Amino acid sequence: MGKNGFDLSGRVALVTGGGTGLGRGGAAALRKAGATVTVAGRRPGPLEAVAAEIGGDWITCDVTDARSVEAAVQAVVGRHGRLDILVNSAGLNLRGPSLEYPAADWDRVHAVNTKGTFLCCQAAGRVMRPRGYGKIINIASLASEAGFPNIVAYASSKGGVRQITKSLAVEWAPYGIRVNAIEPGFFRTELTEPLFQDPAWVQRVTARVPLGRTALPEELGGTGVYLAAPASDYVTGELIRVDGGVLAG
Ligand SMILES: NC(=O)c1ccc[n+]([C@@H]2O[C@H](COP(=O)([O-])OP(=O)(O)OC[C@H]3O[C@@H](n4cnc5c(N)ncnc54)[C@H](OP(=O)(O)O)[C@@H]3O)[C@@H](O)[C@H]2O)c1
Repeated sequence: MGKNGFDLSGRVALVTGGGTGLGRGGAAALRKAGATVTVAGRRPGPLEAVAAEIGGDWITCDVTDARSVEAAVQAVVGRHGRLDILVNSAGLNLRGPSLEYPAADWDRVHAVNTKGTFLCCQAAGRVMRPRGYGKIINIASLASEAGFPNIVAYASSKGGVRQITKSLAVEWAPYGIRVNAIEPGFFRTELTEPLFQDPAWVQRVTARVPLGRTALPEELGGTGVYLAAPASDYVTGELIRVDGGVLAG
């Protein structure tokens, strides 16, 4: 490790879901730490805006489609010569009571959160392996380990993300590929905006947070940089909660 274990100069990163919310915050933090960053998602508009804002690159990609994922990873390698860091922030939550929960919604949520995360890890892992080094950061959730009402498919998919993280960490450790995850608590983003519109929900949730408030997307960046940087090279298969202490009790 060099003098500054948090320096990402010369590193190349791909951030899925990087056009909005936590992916956008993470992309900005990686860029600030020196990395070359490409943000990926389905809508060009937000991606283009973030790329311009942070001084990065963008590419459209549907994480549920193996060919699209492969093309995005190859494009990053083609443009920037390598891929050192993958952040999987693409995600979807379709809420609803489980007794009436539509099977089609179950499939959609799992296609993005579980299959999508795996396909991105796989495509990135294939180009990281020959270089003997890589950092993968999956965005899991408090729902990866605790129960919450009306999000059964999401919780199941995020439990899957937890186990994808641990399985690949063990399988790919011999290749120098570190696989970790972050479990965000209550962050205000497009995903959670409908909840934040309800003052009773905000009050209820805030009362559960020992630090006494919800979070902003940029507050995830420090943990993202840590897991992307040489400072965490001896950390793999770990899930770090960034939740203001919600699950500490
Ligand atoms: N906000 C929170 O409090 C919170 C808490 C725990 C975990 N998380 C997790 O954090 C991650 C980011 O969520 P967020 O809160 O930042 O919400 P968000 O702003 O809605 O971000 C989700 C991103 O995923 C992208 N996406 C969705 N489906 C995709 C697909 N098929 N292919 C490629 N990209 C796709 C979206 O872009 P396009 O629509 O343009 O594709 C969007 O940029 C998610 O995994 C979420 O589960 C969030």
